[in-house]
Amino acid sequence: MIKVDLSGAEKFFGAQGPDWAACARAHETLAAKNGAGNDFLGWLELPQRIEEQELTRIVAAGKKIRALGRALVVIGIGGSYLGARAAYDLLGRKGDGVELFFAGNGLSATSLRDTLAALGDRDFCVNVVSKSGTTLEPALGFRIFRELLEKKYGAEGARERIFATTDARRGALKSAADAAGWECFVVPDDVGGRFSVLSAVGLLPLAAAGLDVEEMIRTAKESFAALDERSEANPAWRYAAARQALYRQGKLIEILACYEPRFRMVAEWWKQLYGESEGKEGLGIYPASVEYNADLHSMGQYIQEGPRDLMETVVTFAQEKSSYPIPFDEKNGDGLNYVAGHDLNEVAAIARAAVKEAHIQGGVPNLVVEAPSMDERGFTELVCFFEMACALSGYMEGVNPFNQPGVEAYKKLMFAGLAAWK
Ligand code: PA5
Repeated sequence: MIKVDLSGAEKFFGAQGPDWAACARAHETLAAKNGAGNDFLGWLELPQRIEEQELTRIVAAGKKIRALGRALVVIGIGGSYLGARAAYDLLGRKGDGVELFFAGNGLSATSLRDTLAALGDRDFCVNVVSKSGTTLEPALGFRIFRELLEKKYGAEGARERIFATTDARRGALKSAADAAGWECFVVPDDVGGRFSVLSAVGLLPLAAAGLDVEEMIRTAKESFAALDERSEANPAWRYAAARQALYRQGKLIEILACYEPRFRMVAEWWKQLYGESEGKEGLGIYPASVEYNADLHSMGQYIQEGPRDLMETVVTFAQEKSSYPIPFDEKNGDGLNYVAGHDLNEVAAIARAAVKEAHIQGGVPNLVVEAPSMDERGFTELVCFFEMACALSGYMEGVNPFNQPGVEAYKKLMFAGLAAWK
């Protein structure tokens, strides 16, 4: 179970403190499904639904992808990409899992060429993920990789190597998939992209990478049940109410920090979740992220002494994944023999405590979110926790946490620019 430590934030809450009554109302609104965006609450039921409808097929498709080659190119952007990328970067592939490559999340020819070079001559499959089926970046990425597949394996070979994750009934990708006979998986109507990692969107690539997606679904069921608790002991309540209390005190920016470099893309996933859910109507905490210890030597200065509109949330893992003893050095040129024999993790723990203390002294409230372990269970618990807290926090802020009207603005202008070529 996720734990949330608010001890480093309490003195910054102000006289009112966390508004637990508002948090209870937000939870009631979510449970009663009578708030803004109530047609996008399917993420809460995803674990049950996927188990009944698709999980067996996802596991079988993962096995087929592993049998067909050594790589899967996952084509998608935003919510159709970040969840799988986050889990893959954090956990890596397991057993005979294939390597995942990600494409269609930008329009950089350099990045595309880099991906192609890294893919090399491996046998590969493609999983194109787009709920709408009309997003330009993945549509162009898919066009390119589909051509490569057809050149390498012929039309029939390409057909069995393409897996489409999209709307159950509508859209250009669904029509193309039906016409070509690609195996299809569903992005449910009532699940927004940023809440979709525990659907086929995230699970199919992760199954291909050898991760235990059945364990993820078991964990998600338990987690959402536990996160339904209506009390201040609920970690999602603690996080949501604390960050809203700090926001009221002028802490407009939240920095998500982790001491594990593998966590970087989880932070990117979190940024989309909170940025798209809360940043609207002139409101919202700006979600930023840092990677410690590296960023202590760059952003550390700003965090310690810049404008005091920051709060910091540090994600830790209760169980260390690895360990490494510090060697004794006869010459002791660096004078550090006094730490020899200790594990690197022990030094890291002391560094973490020092950073926390320094930042609190510098006026930055500190929240700690502790996940049990850096594995499928820990990742899934973090996902459920952050999703639940995001919904509560968005309702507490008074916005619809499930829409993203602002992302359309650039698309309209971009398509107007492209229309000149028609
Ligand atoms: O969260 C969202 O809704 C977005 O990030 C979308 O997932 C992203 O724009 C991709 O959209 P689509 O899956 O329709 O291609």
